[in-house]
Amino acid sequence: MCGIIGYVGKRNAVPVLLYGLQRLEYRGYDSAGIAVIDKNGDKIIVEKQVGKIKDLQEHLWNRKIEGHTALGHTRWATHGPPTIENAHPHTSQRETISIVHNGIIENYLELKEELIKKGYRFRSETDTEVVAHLFEELYTGDLLETALKVAKKLEGAYAIGVISTYEPDKIVGIKKGSPLIVGFGKDENFIASDIPAVLEYTKDFIVLEDGEIAVVTKDNVEVYNLEGKKLEKKPLHVTWDISVAEKAGYKHFMQKEIHEQPRTIGDTITGFSSSKDEKLFEAIKDADRLYIIACGTSYHAGLVGKFWIEKFARIPVEVDYASEYRYRDRIINNRTVVMGISQSGETADTRFALLDAKKEGAKTIGLVNVVGSSLSRETDYVMYTYCGPEIGVAATKTFTAQLVTLLLFALEAGLKKGTVSKPEYKKLYDELLHIPSKVESILNNEEGIKEIAHKYMNAQDFLFLGRNINYPIALEGALKLKEISYIHAEGYPAGEMKHGPIALIDDKLPVVCVIPQDKYYEKMFSNLQEVKARKGKVVSVATEGDTKVKELSDDVIYIPPASDVLYPILTVVPLQLLSYHIATLLGKDVDQPRNLAKTVTVE
Ligand code: F6R
Repeated sequence: MCGIIGYVGKRNAVPVLLYGLQRLEYRGYDSAGIAVIDKNGDKIIVEKQVGKIKDLQEHLWNRKIEGHTALGHTRWATHGPPTIENAHPHTSQRETISIVHNGIIENYLELKEELIKKGYRFRSETDTEVVAHLFEELYTGDLLETALKVAKKLEGAYAIGVISTYEPDKIVGIKKGSPLIVGFGKDENFIASDIPAVLEYTKDFIVLEDGEIAVVTKDNVEVYNLEGKKLEKKPLHVTWDISVAEKAGYKHFMQKEIHEQPRTIGDTITGFSSSKDEKLFEAIKDADRLYIIACGTSYHAGLVGKFWIEKFARIPVEVDYASEYRYRDRIINNRTVVMGISQSGETADTRFALLDAKKEGAKTIGLVNVVGSSLSRETDYVMYTYCGPEIGVAATKTFTAQLVTLLLFALEAGLKKGTVSKPEYKKLYDELLHIPSKVESILNNEEGIKEIAHKYMNAQDFLFLGRNINYPIALEGALKLKEISYIHAEGYPAGEMKHGPIALIDDKLPVVCVIPQDKYYEKMFSNLQEVKARKGKVVSVATEGDTKVKELSDDVIYIPPASDVLYPILTVVPLQLLSYHIATLLGKDVDQPRNLAKTVTVE
């Protein structure tokens, strides 16, 4: 999704913007641009390019633009294709005001018609351009006052950055629905869509809430609500280093993040145990039903979580795609709990579905990675994964951390309800502490997995099969592969294969079987035989030492033995590596796959 950065301060803004835009690349984009108020404060210079930040950088080479108040933007096309005209920043008719925007202005057509009647000419197909003209039309002599008027006219979800030659030492940021933070520096301040964009310059931030407007100059930051009342905001200090947002010698962020999992799983176990919210577990004790809502990979984590929560806490769980949950006639009473899982904490589908459920009387829990994100502030209770920023568009380390949190949540809730005994909890907890080193041993076989990737990289389709708690892992394996390699892949519960998908199997179809030695092993083994009998190519993810599966499979990736319930945290790791290597061998851009955005802030 679109990324915003704004700078006001002593240094030349251009390198700061370009650096920040590179840090925002992971969100997904197709064009980028900057708007800089020139040194004399009387002109806004706008430069844009379709393509990557490096294309913009090349375009700016030798242009010698200098200024101290500026905005930058990466655009993920919604209204109109990726063209220079549609790229942000957008500038008002008299070129006195420049705007960057993330989100969707739902009533833009109406506003556009009104502005056209008043003589405004539009240069782009975007919804954003109306905001630039609206600022000019409504300008009162004060940018904050004007922002309050503009915000009242806009419908939809948005984060907006504004600069103007009328007040050249100021940036105004408006937030409603899409994320926006303000970073504090010395003799300089920033606005941005997220923290990594400006982490090089500061570790102190405020996270704007919906309906807040920030007025930022080089020495001062003030925040107002939409009535113009000044607010006191408490800054947040982050402890992560910029190195977490660097590739650290790996070829891609995705590869680095896959390899970070021993640490992020360990940190999440420790983080959960040290920051347990007792009130949350009191609230869940009487729950008669738990809905888990999420999208994509987070949804798959929810599907695994259902097995654990039902097993250990004995609460009935329904898992739903947030975009579906929001628009169905769900049943909520005062004993209903709704948990939203979201790495970014900004996914519009998940946030809005949770807000609706909250309005209807449900207690809400957020499971998020990004500290201070909208979802973490909008829910009654929050649990965090402790992964630091995830830059690769394909979620990896946050998925395993979500699993760990859901398992601990289920055990803790079970303990409080009396459905899990202390020794049972302790046994699993102790075993969980060994999961990081087991993940490490899977990662040590990366070269072996790469060879398998090489063998199957030219397949047109893939089928992923699993049973019970490893069925969602089959779904996740298929999602990882399709999103970064663009190979068609389907995940299926293995027992369901005979009801349809078995017709797909022939000697060209690779079938990835997730078959650890658990309670469902024999059943899964029968499914594997069914695939083999139809000449499918079998790649198995099996428990170390399993020679029976090895004999029947074309290829095997081994994982260390574990208790049945812990297997999903292990079985997913080889599938992440398999997808990663297939995609890189095919020459795909794994960190920024086509059409995808890391943070999906539109419905
Ligand atoms: C897949 C992926 C997406 C996200 C989905 C939800 O690798 O990353 O499917 O899982 O867009 O995002 P969050 O978890 O931020 O709500």
